Amino acid sequence: MSRIFSGIQPSGELHIGNYLGAVRNWVALQAHYESFFCVVDYHAIIAAYAPEDLRRRTREMAISLLAAGIDPAHCTLFVQSRVPEHTELQWIFNTITPLGELERQVAFKEKSARQEQVMAGLLNYPVLQAADILLYHADRVPVGEDQVQHLELSRVIARNWNSRFAPEGDPYFPEPKPELTPTRRIVGLDGNAKMSKSLGNTIALLETPDEIWAKLRPAVTDPARVKKTDPGNPDNCPVIFGLHKAFSPAATIAEVETNCRAAGWGCVDCKKSLLEHMNAELTPIRTRAQALTEQPSLVDAALDAGAEKARAVAQQTLRHVKARMGLD
Ligand code: AMP
Ligand code: TRP
Repeated sequence: MSRIFSGIQPSGELHIGNYLGAVRNWVALQAHYESFFCVVDYHAIIAAYAPEDLRRRTREMAISLLAAGIDPAHCTLFVQSRVPEHTELQWIFNTITPLGELERQVAFKEKSARQEQVMAGLLNYPVLQAADILLYHADRVPVGEDQVQHLELSRVIARNWNSRFAPEGDPYFPEPKPELTPTRRIVGLDGNAKMSKSLGNTIALLETPDEIWAKLRPAVTDPARVKKTDPGNPDNCPVIFGLHKAFSPAATIAEVETNCRAAGWGCVDCKKSLLEHMNAELTPIRTRAQALTEQPSLVDAALDAGAEKARAVAQQTLRHVKARMGLD
């Protein structure tokens, strides 16, 4: 039986790119597979931060995940730093991860190019990610497209460790594969790049309808549609049409196609229709998040229980790993 693992950084806000690329899929998968979902605070401390801020962001992320439908009765939701086996296995994996593989990672190349002083943690980030996944023997990892290369490296690490320490033909670690959705890459509101907190082009999952409208209204559309009567092409409108495809029912998506090409709708009409469908999905999430914020003990209890469940599995893996490596 497959196992699921995925992680998300406590970056301050769960945005609709994270939600559509990953978290909505987590919610769907938790009913069918044994699932572990992790707020990866150890990954987040690679960028400079204030401790008080991190504490708040970690909690807010847990609340957003619970509000989005992650259900501790069906999965294990926990905070990474509460399970020290993640960093212990990372050290072990550091010893079998080729430096060249780390230097090839596009995320590393992009982020390190923007920094004056590059910390070792940035380079080793995907090794910790491999440890996250493999501690739980997860073979399916629901993520957005930007994580595919990191998962390739997780497979290299699993293979390298197996070939050194597991008998041939009986691998100890599975090779984890990405589990992608049709919404694997949500474009930011500027239409230039993927939606990302650091680019400031996001809609947060918990924004109000007014806040969402204030962002949708000026968002870029098909440049050919200067006037309402100009015919357009939805494929040249990745932001709004992309979100329609993610949030709206099939009948509305067909309506958008027809009305855009025939200039039956103006872009504002199209955006209003989108807002309506976004509200239908997001308003209940926002309401649940408010309720959870007012019940901190409920969130604490969920995270305590999650850490305990995760730790039991992680400790067992590490016992096996250390025994096979002569570390016992
Ligand atoms: P992060 O916020 O980087 O921890 O990302 C959490 C999850 O959201 C990962 O699975 C990412 O692949 C996914 N994700 C982040 N941004 C996007 C995006 N713009 N479109 C689709 N998925 C995304
Ligand atoms: N690197 C992932 C991201 O930035 C977060 C992450 C950490 C993760 N550990 C993971 C995702 C394990 C999947 C599995 O989005």
